[in-house]
Amino acid sequence: MSNAHVTVHTEAAIGRIEPEVHGHFSEHLGRCVYDGLWSDDTADTDGFRDDVVDLLADLEIPVLRWPGGCFADDYHWEDGVGPREERPRRRNLFWAQGIEEDPEESNAFGTDEFLQLCERVGTEPYLAANVGSGDPQEAADWVEYCNYEGDTELADRRRANGHEDGYGVRYWGLGNENWGCGGRMSPEQYAREYRRFATYVGSMDDLMLDEDLELIACGFENHEWNRLFMEEVGEAEWGVEFPLDHLTLHHYYGRTMNVDEAGEEGYDQMLVEALEMDRHIERIAAAIDAVATTRDIGVIIDEWGTWHPEAVASNGLEQPGTVFDALSAAAVLDVFNHHSDVMTMSNIAQTVNVLQCLVETDGDDAWARPTYRVFDLYAPHKGNESVRTSLETPTRDVGEDDLPLVGASASVDDTETFLTLTNLDCRAAHTVDVGLEGIDLGEASIDAEVLFAGQDPDTEVDAGNADSFAAEELDVATDGDGLSADLEPATVAGITIR
Ligand code: AHR
Repeated sequence: MSNAHVTVHTEAAIGRIEPEVHGHFSEHLGRCVYDGLWSDDTADTDGFRDDVVDLLADLEIPVLRWPGGCFADDYHWEDGVGPREERPRRRNLFWAQGIEEDPEESNAFGTDEFLQLCERVGTEPYLAANVGSGDPQEAADWVEYCNYEGDTELADRRRANGHEDGYGVRYWGLGNENWGCGGRMSPEQYAREYRRFATYVGSMDDLMLDEDLELIACGFENHEWNRLFMEEVGEAEWGVEFPLDHLTLHHYYGRTMNVDEAGEEGYDQMLVEALEMDRHIERIAAAIDAVATTRDIGVIIDEWGTWHPEAVASNGLEQPGTVFDALSAAAVLDVFNHHSDVMTMSNIAQTVNVLQCLVETDGDDAWARPTYRVFDLYAPHKGNESVRTSLETPTRDVGEDDLPLVGASASVDDTETFLTLTNLDCRAAHTVDVGLEGIDLGEASIDAEVLFAGQDPDTEVDAGNADSFAAEELDVATDGDGLSADLEPATVAGITIR
């Protein structure tokens, strides 16, 4: 067992960990919405799956993005409001391939269903408006339908559809992957489109609504694209301020090999790719800073997580949920904590049944995947001040990269320090020695939990074994100004010091 050393610099604040950094994303794709969140033939309340709603409510998910993804830029919101039997069936352009059973979009789940789902879960909605095949009028009308309290046809339509008060939707995405499925635009072209959309949606905010809208542009993993977008969208020479509150990108990663060939090497490779999140956040923040020196524009990663070879469009992008995936989520949440000075939100893809979902369903069963356990363990970080950690860790050569085998992040509030530690090594245990600057452990009480100890990290979770992935107590040794924990292979720990 080799040792890693972590120092927690409790006075070196990075920034608040916005609770929205633990956000989620649901798309009209496979069994995420229909079957996963809602079903028109379910016995549950108004079609909502109570079991899934309860799991998401228990986790206190802060924000949920909808309706896509690629689906968003082919979606016309008016198709999905009003009496259900009158709503048109449409193609599902991007996500119907190879799905024989119900490949089309019934529009049975639309804006009011989504916003009521958010109310039931107790989460904030984030709507993605159609820039690719839509127009600014449609986007501004959607804002009016959802939020306006006055006496207009659209506000009255919302009332007639059962919601007297405006929903107060704050987060509005203007486009999704507009470099790809959202219109294959150049950065300059998207910037011009963005400005047009933001003018009308942003004016709704200034002139008509009580709440401040937060407008979100979709960037790219290519940072030259982001730089060109920011230059164009931020053109200051006419003296016009541009309404842009957040810039996003998407980062997926997975085993490059299929499940039989992948083994431990495939897993190590995947973790290296997951940790590239660090570089992406630095570079997108630099693209923002190069242009927007006078106002705050946050970084959002509004799609992220594992995407393995098993997930193909014809099976609705479903893939097994394992501890391997959950560890990559822990590693990425640590990266977000390290960048809490710029991170304003993230949305793991995709809440239920699809890709790295947190909840899986099969018929009447619904259960938490190991990734859900990680979000639950990390929950005390939400709203805390992230503080710097220094780390000395054993590494493994993975191609041209070094994989750090131990990870850490820490945060503080008025009464406690919360520390998360990951042993990303699926082959060996590691002892982690932790120094806590400014804390006298003689006076402190310590609670520690660990996930996945003794589990085979490749075991697939199902309804029968889901409970076995719950957190267990972890033994921690203390010696006055430090503590030490033995972490079994492929485990995640949460330690609270009060
Ligand atoms: O999450 C699945 C797809 O991945 C989304 O529709 C798209 O935005 C991304 O490419």
